[in-house]
Amino acid sequence: MTTTVTATSSSTPRAAAERSPGSRGPSATPHGVQLEGIARAFEGPQGTRAVLRDLDLELAGGEIVAVVGPSGCGKSTLLRLIAGLDRPSAGAIRLGGGVLEGTDPRTAVAFQEPRLLPWRTLADNVALGLPRGTARRAGRERVEHLLRLVGLEHAADLRPREVSGGMAQRASLARALARNPEVLLLDEPFGALDALTRLRMQDLLLDIHAAEPTTVLVVTHDVEEALYLADRVLLLRTLLGAAPEAPSLARTIAVPGTRPRDRADHDLAALRSELLEGLGVDTHHSPQPTTSEYPS
Ligand SMILES: Nc1ncnc2c1ncn2[C@@H]1O[C@H](COP(=O)(O)OP(=O)(O)O)[C@@H](O)[C@H]1O
Ligand SMILES: [Mg+2]
Repeated sequence: MTTTVTATSSSTPRAAAERSPGSRGPSATPHGVQLEGIARAFEGPQGTRAVLRDLDLELAGGEIVAVVGPSGCGKSTLLRLIAGLDRPSAGAIRLGGGVLEGTDPRTAVAFQEPRLLPWRTLADNVALGLPRGTARRAGRERVEHLLRLVGLEHAADLRPREVSGGMAQRASLARALARNPEVLLLDEPFGALDALTRLRMQDLLLDIHAAEPTTVLVVTHDVEEALYLADRVLLLRTLLGAAPEAPSLARTIAVPGTRPRDRADHDLAALRSELLEGLGVDTHHSPQPTTSEYPS
């Protein structure tokens, strides 16, 4: 018998089905993102160091793509490039057809740390994400909607120090959604949360995606999270020590089936092993002798 772990309980925030004023409307498909021949190199004491190379990628509108790869392989660099916070050394990034020249109001980013302003309430922090020029009443309604969406309607007037890490991260997600982004970029968004909260946040993200479709790129070091959330998983390789021409993208895995996925699915378990092996993790690790070989 297989056990399905669904991390939904009565205490789990469920994305409200209704749409808020200012959102794009249920039929609008968000823009996709195209990366063409992206490279990024940094100057260091030892000269130029390539971090990303020959990256061609198309994120379809409304798709959820997860990025995994060893630490330092350039995942955050990739996310910052798409966010327009950094510029590629070569190649072009297109959003809705036009070449990206910097940050874009159609894109929102959230990080591992919630980065809330400690002296503002959660509602005021979420309001910081509203597009410039939002009318006061429409802004208030949108913030209320988003707080409901992430299950924080009762915490609107609390300050970040008064809430748990999971609640702060939900507020951070709501702030990112406040501008009604077409592209949502998440850099290890649940990495600092405990295991159970992380499962709940994954379901919340899927609920939000269903209620307010966006093109999502999520960086994670958790392969199970990647397989649970994404339509496709991209495995990046580190260029340090790689063949000089090796491109950054090591493998693309299309995740079978449709969401919501069964966390115990056998097909996903096979892909999990494949991804872990791609990350250099031995999935059939045999214990090594610990006494005679390692004298104290
Ligand atoms: N602004 C920068 N200047 C110099 N090196 C950088 C800069 N940003 C990132 N790097 C380097 O690029 C590599 C990839 O970083 P990053 O994208 O943060 O990795 P990941 O998110 O996959 O762990 C690291 O070696 C990092 O030190
Ligand atoms: Mg990173």
